[in-house]
This record gives sequence, C-alpha cells and structure tokens, in this order.
Amino acid sequence: MHKTADILESKNHVESITNIKPTIGIILGSGLGSFADTLEGAVHIPYSNIPHFAKSEAVGHSNELVIGSIGGKNVVAMKGRFHYYEGFTLDQVTFPVRLMKALGVEKLIITNACGAVNTDFSPGDLMLITDHINLTANNPLIGPNNPDLGVRFLDVSEVYNKALRSIVIDVAKAQNITLRQGVYAWWTGPAYETPAEIRMIRTLGADAVGMSTVPEALIARHAGIDTVGISYLTNMACGILDQPLSHEEIIETAEKVKTAFLKLVTETISRF
Ligand code: HPA
Repeated sequence: MHKTADILESKNHVESITNIKPTIGIILGSGLGSFADTLEGAVHIPYSNIPHFAKSEAVGHSNELVIGSIGGKNVVAMKGRFHYYEGFTLDQVTFPVRLMKALGVEKLIITNACGAVNTDFSPGDLMLITDHINLTANNPLIGPNNPDLGVRFLDVSEVYNKALRSIVIDVAKAQNITLRQGVYAWWTGPAYETPAEIRMIRTLGADAVGMSTVPEALIARHAGIDTVGISYLTNMACGILDQPLSHEEIIETAEKVKTAFLKLVTETISRF
C-alpha cells in the first residue's frame, strides 16, 4: 500500500517545478502519447526525476508527466504508464494515480489499446469502458490499507463514472465519432491470449481485452477520483481472424485512430 509520506514527497517535487494545479488527469495508452504535446504552457517532468516513481522501459512510451492546459482546464497527462507485465508491483503501477490525487485531480481519463473480443467491433473503433473484469487474480488494494487514502473494502459498483460517461457519449455523438461501449477484461500479458482464452473471455462477458487500466481505475476509485476509460481497439483478439497478432500492427492501428481520439478527448476535457 502506498505511503502518505511518499506521495507527499512526489507531490512536493512536482509543485517545486510548476504552479499549475491540475484537476483532470489522463493516462495515455500506447501510440497516443502525442496528446500530451497538445497541452498549452506545458511542463515536462521525467518519471525518473519524480521521487517514488518506478522506471519504465516500455516500447512506444516516453515516460514523463506533462502538466499544462487545454480547453480551459488544467491537466496532468501520463505519457507512458507502468504495466504489471513489466514486472512492476501494482503499488508501482498505480502510484501515479495517488500523486494525481495529491495534486488536486478530481477526474481521470484512462486510455488503452486493446483487442476486440466482441465480433461486432472492429479494429480502429473507440470503446467507452462500462465496467471491467479482473482476470489476473491480483488487486492493487491487497496489503495493509492506508486509511488516509481510502477505505479497506471498496465498493466497485461504478468504477467508471456514469455521469462522466454520458458526457463522453454526447461528445462522440456531436463529433460523429463511432463510440462502442463495453466491458474491458484485464489480462496480465505480456503474451497475448490464446484462441481458447479469448473464447473464455467472451463467455465471461467481456467485449475487449488488454493489459492495463484496471489497477489504475481501482486505485482512482479508492482515492475518490471519478474515472472514465476509453479504449481503442487495435486488433481483433486472438483466434477471431486467422492471423497472428503483432505489436507493430497494434501501434499502426493506434496511429490511425489518433485524430478521432484527440478530438474526442480534447472536447471531453473541456466539458469535464
Ligand atoms: N490482447 C491484449 N492486449 C492487447 C491486445 C490484445 O489483443 N491488443 C492490444 N493490447
């Protein structure tokens, strides 16, 4: 469990660099880190300089906190995130969400690349996460609870905030962007799923599968931050098409959704 003093130390570091007080946080998934470059008057803080942050080496991520403004809102963006499959503990994966809370973040947008399990969906679609299924048998809240940070037994009946979700739906409609809605299943990775595992995941009720988001969303809920999750479906999940999955294909598809994603997220932030 995160320590109050550690969070304070990392907050003090950030606040020694900028006076901007962010109220909205965003975690940027693979290939979409460029959203952070659209923030105005931004400061860039490498994770390696922030006390108690882990060091990340994931491909396609640049590993810095970017704090600036867009649509009249002060935003802190994570350009690059920590994944469980990299070997980080879930405390390390989710520490940045505690920092966001300490900095004043009230609303969080979590984004990710994921595979489409629902065969009505297509690569290139955006999906608003309505709920999740944790398939990993791990949970970032395991361990002694720090009562400064949240409750021991967390209600998770609405991890992805309904009122905020309806704003995202309205924005997508206004922008003529197709926005799917569905359940995200968290798979540890780093291996993708087998065809049999995808059949299992579909049977369990998930529409998409990926290797992130759920730990951060759970900690955000614990911290009292209202969250939405926006996925971009980069591929049909394994076994749906008769072809292997590749990370290159995923990054390529992420590149193609960039324009719609940037539009949707930018307008959403201005209405949050
Ligand atoms: N499975 C798991 N994670 C992913 C996928 C997938 O098919 N695509 C992008 N991230």
